[in-house]
Amino acid sequence: MSTIAQTYVAKDFNLAGLNGISDKTLETHFGLYKGYVTNTNTLNEQISGLIKNGKAGSADPAYAELTRRLGFEYNGMRLHEYYFGNMTANGKGQPNSETKLMKAITESFGDFETWKTDFVKVGGMRGVGWAITFQDPFTSRISNHWVTLHEDGNPAGFKPILVMDVWEHAFLLDYKPAERPKYIEAFFSNIDWDVVDQRID
Ligand SMILES: [Fe+2]
Repeated sequence: MSTIAQTYVAKDFNLAGLNGISDKTLETHFGLYKGYVTNTNTLNEQISGLIKNGKAGSADPAYAELTRRLGFEYNGMRLHEYYFGNMTANGKGQPNSETKLMKAITESFGDFETWKTDFVKVGGMRGVGWAITFQDPFTSRISNHWVTLHEDGNPAGFKPILVMDVWEHAFLLDYKPAERPKYIEAFFSNIDWDVVDQRID
């Protein structure tokens, strides 16, 4: 039997000078992100090795644990890429009314404020995880979801459109734990609406 492990390379993001999210926070956060890339690669190699040697067995606790961890590390890697990728130091208010994004928001929520209020409420939920606007490829509608940790709550087949990290490491150097709403407002002022619009199908 042979198998080839997928290897990922950490991406670079130029986000210096964000509004209300310090360069120090970003530096720490990029380090955490790189850890997810490294761990995803390591897990893929280990799992691949077990498959190659015919050692991959459902009843083997080591194989099961590696496979479960892959969901955590892989989603941790990917969600950070969406998150860093949808921010810019040149953020501006809200998306242009002519965009595909604004059309999707209007069709799914009625207006921008209703969608934003809902997204902010999801982001303020207790616990660590992510607030994500997804698009359903079957209906084209968008909806806001909570993802616990990195892997629990991703709706199958939905496409991430806007991704916000609400683990405390995303803001603890800049705000107190109870000041998550301030971080969320800062995040909103840094959204790259062009990137978010391009993600809409
Ligand atoms: Fe994070």
